[in-house]
Amino acid sequence: MIIYDETTGLIGLHTRHTTYQMKADARGVLLHTYYGPRIGQDDLSRLIRPADRGFSANPADAGGDRRYSLDTLPQEYPCAGGGDMRVPALEVAFADGSAAPDLRFVGLERREGKYALPGLPAFHGEGWETLVVRLADEANGLRAELYYGVAEEHDLITRAVRFVNAGGGPVRLERAMSLCLELPEGDMDLVTFDGAYGMERVPHRGTLRPGVQSVGSVRGASSHQHNPFVVLCRPDTGEDHGLCYGAMLLYSGSFLAEAERDQFDTARLVLGIHPRRFSWTLAPGESFTAPEAALVCSGEGFGPMSRRLHRAIRECLVRDPYAGRRRPVLINSWEAAYFRFDADTLLSMAEAAAALGVELFVLDDGWFGERDCDRRALGDWWVNEKKLPGGLTALAERVRALGMRFGLWIEPEMISEDSDLYRAHPDWALGPAEKPRSRSRDQLVLDFSRADVREHVFQALRAVIDGADVDYIKWDMNRSLTEVWSASLPADRQGEVYHRYVLGVYELLERFRQTWPDMLIEGCAGGGGRFDAGMLYYVPQIWCSDNSDPIDRLFIQGGTSFAYPPSAMAAHVAPVPNALNGRVASLQTRGTVAMAGAFGYELDPRSLTPEERETVRRQVETYKQRWQLVYQGDYYRLTDFFRPGPYVAWAMVSPDRSRALACLVYTQNRAAGPLRTLCLKGLDPEKRYRVDGGGIWGGAALMAAGYPLPPQTGDYDSVTLYLEAVKGG
Ligand code: GLA
Repeated sequence: MIIYDETTGLIGLHTRHTTYQMKADARGVLLHTYYGPRIGQDDLSRLIRPADRGFSANPADAGGDRRYSLDTLPQEYPCAGGGDMRVPALEVAFADGSAAPDLRFVGLERREGKYALPGLPAFHGEGWETLVVRLADEANGLRAELYYGVAEEHDLITRAVRFVNAGGGPVRLERAMSLCLELPEGDMDLVTFDGAYGMERVPHRGTLRPGVQSVGSVRGASSHQHNPFVVLCRPDTGEDHGLCYGAMLLYSGSFLAEAERDQFDTARLVLGIHPRRFSWTLAPGESFTAPEAALVCSGEGFGPMSRRLHRAIRECLVRDPYAGRRRPVLINSWEAAYFRFDADTLLSMAEAAAALGVELFVLDDGWFGERDCDRRALGDWWVNEKKLPGGLTALAERVRALGMRFGLWIEPEMISEDSDLYRAHPDWALGPAEKPRSRSRDQLVLDFSRADVREHVFQALRAVIDGADVDYIKWDMNRSLTEVWSASLPADRQGEVYHRYVLGVYELLERFRQTWPDMLIEGCAGGGGRFDAGMLYYVPQIWCSDNSDPIDRLFIQGGTSFAYPPSAMAAHVAPVPNALNGRVASLQTRGTVAMAGAFGYELDPRSLTPEERETVRRQVETYKQRWQLVYQGDYYRLTDFFRPGPYVAWAMVSPDRSRALACLVYTQNRAAGPLRTLCLKGLDPEKRYRVDGGGIWGGAALMAAGYPLPPQTGDYDSVTLYLEAVKGG
């Protein structure tokens, strides 16, 4: 609910459990007055106490009031260049070279429904309201529209900003963040989700120290190293108690999240496109829209924060061709065959997998051009008929004859120098062709800011996809952007290329969706190098990591779960010893962890023993019965990622709390270990549950006292408990 009190000027955005409040002061500066657990329309600008602070400048219209300074006021959209010395949301250079924008409140507009952002990902759906707050810098001819989306039921607030050059000369945006959040207390912890290739999104928590702490990416993708989702929380916040704020950017390119604890011990968070090598020139009349950010607040710890985000992402962001239906259990050829395959190998793998209940066969890298290793042929999107006689059409037909669907790996944004495409168009790669360009995985990046490049890639892939009637695409992206420069833009506009590249990726993804509305697209970037809410608008699932070791995955998937739902996390059972860390974990444990996501296999099913085949067959069958808990259930972390113990556990509970799946995986092992119980969460305390088809337990008892765990029998054991409420219980 959006309430605007015209008399006092107070603006309240109310969701079921939270209130977000702002107010333009007498000078038109838009103050941020509150965000937190729901309060009424109490005007909390009264908490702002003016004081004369040394060295804090007073704006020209302060009228000699030394107590009025932008350096001390909490603001919705603070600008650099004037008196506010903290991290800004906006940096602009005007035609005369001056750089001190001063945005003041002009008016606002409320609407039913959710605003949309053409060309950019955005939350959508029923039950939203929109607020547009108009700000203007009249002297410089710059206007800004702050967009707020309010989803009352989802406890979600989204933000975006649109700038219009209303002056007579060019305006250059140099930093245009999507979000600024001011908090009155600096005594907070900052939680970030960090890692590397093969170990993405592991949560890290630390005290917000005086000064600025930041995470970000300048890689052109949201990156393996940091995620465009951060949390600020009180130091005492845990899974089930305490105040926390989650801030998420719906963007898949370079980003920056900066948290500052300032001289007066307040906190400010800004989140948006990374300003490094970003600039955007607006001619008179032109506009620029900064991508959407979403905010969620929980007064009851990280658990509700994550569940609110999961639900909002599932119901108001992801556009899933399988909406309400189970996505197919797949088998992917990569870890089974890498580049060493021919049609018969693939087919015998598909045959073995089909016999175990697997429904989709995905042919990974290596099917096109002269691609027999990862050094060549990206860009040559024609089928290698030496490997696959009769092309993909023939292979797909034979796969379909087994009752399976057919899927394919592509990496559309890349080009190998050893490719026909590169030989024809060396200027289609990013960076000046006549200067040295960095290679990574021996490949260059196609200039996706260019419409002609995207058109070529689309047409080439269309022929392949239509030719084999492909049911699923894995859209990969296997390097960071370097030498970011486009032959299509003049020297003074090269600062636009990073962002135009992302817009180009979004445009092509949208075109794929429109052209093949029933095709499932999975995102991937060397595993989880582009796992963000921006991508989830275009693809319902993303390959979480190239690391499928179930123990490492506990942290990768567990960290990912702070922001993103299990249904978005593609997870496979892979061979042992694990390709990245050499660990040998049981097939059961590998299954337990992979089944907490969009499930599949990535091994050679022909190499399984009869006993292993039976285990796989049972896993697939179980997943088919329980998928709704993974896709629609409420997710509970049963262990604390910031105080790791001997195991990691989680539960998925149906929205009506009649069914639940609890899983536990040991990360440590020793003799004479204690007899443990697992305390569940999210059950109905009034209901009684049959556990694994055996004994009946009360929901309240299972949550308060726990369920007795069997003794550990080896390394990395796992336990799965399936709970079903008994009638009349
Ligand atoms: C990336 C992906 C892998 C696989 C390979 C193929 O690393 O993350 O899953 O598709 O590329 O080259």
